[in-house]
Amino acid sequence: MRTVSTIKEVREAVAAARRGGAQIGFVPTMGFLHEGHLRLVDDARRRSQFVVMSIFVNPLQFAPTEDLSRYPRDPDGDAAKAESRHVDLLFLPDTATMYPAGAATMVVPERLDRRWEGEVRPGHFAGVLTVVAKLFNIVQPDVAVFGQKDIQQATIVRAMVRDLDFPVEVVVGATAREPDGLALSSRNSYLSADQRTQARVLSRALGAVERAFGSGTRSAAELEQVGRAVLAAEPSARVDYLALVSPTTLEPVPEATTGTVVIVAARIGATRLIDNVILDGR
Ligand code: PAJ
Repeated sequence: MRTVSTIKEVREAVAAARRGGAQIGFVPTMGFLHEGHLRLVDDARRRSQFVVMSIFVNPLQFAPTEDLSRYPRDPDGDAAKAESRHVDLLFLPDTATMYPAGAATMVVPERLDRRWEGEVRPGHFAGVLTVVAKLFNIVQPDVAVFGQKDIQQATIVRAMVRDLDFPVEVVVGATAREPDGLALSSRNSYLSADQRTQARVLSRALGAVERAFGSGTRSAAELEQVGRAVLAAEPSARVDYLALVSPTTLEPVPEATTGTVVIVAARIGATRLIDNVILDGR
């Protein structure tokens, strides 16, 4: 694995790999890597011969009130994990490289950011799209892999690629979970032992909705009620939303079908957690 921090080095390394006939896979991250990130590397590896990972804690996607300075970091651990999964090129730009003074352009989503994470975190997805667009232009991957865990992000990135004609295939990788169901997240490191137990309620609520769907319930209102009842049994969880939405528009649907997405967000103490499942009718 080679580690670089300048745009020029990335371009040269990627161009050399491409000259050698490799397809380029790309996994953008903010580091503090866990198995979820590493599975995306495996997904990229299956679809390409040269895998680039970026680690950049993107200030543009954090609101002034959010946890940019507290965001967990582990550069040495990250490098070892990336290498263990055979990342070919690790790109670690600093903020001045990504955002030189005088930058005057952003990529701003339409519509898809009005609800859910976008409503709670104004400007967040413009920050995400701007950095992802820049990273796509720097790395020029054939395939980029995003996690289903952040399904609104993946949906908005897919829309950007379509609407702005990026020559990139966006692949969405499955959510990696702890044995008890909690979706892996860098933010889980903020949880105390008690909160870690309480955090299971998100995946439990999603599981209850899946089971109700599996036994034939189709009304979104009824299915939401099933999920909310589970959340209500954990009073320390403050629920932001639990909803059944279309995978393409992220708008609420009245009736669930195979492919409908169940999204949930809740705060456990000061930590905001999100999760989702796609109903599959099994
Ligand atoms: P980060 O939170 O580091 O996540 C990087 C990628 O890992 C994202 O595509 C995310 O959806 C995925 N991911 C996180 N937890 C996962 C899990 N449990 N299972 C599978 N995939 C998981 O998302 C970002 O960074 C940033 O917004 C970024 C896209 C890098 C732009 O700054």
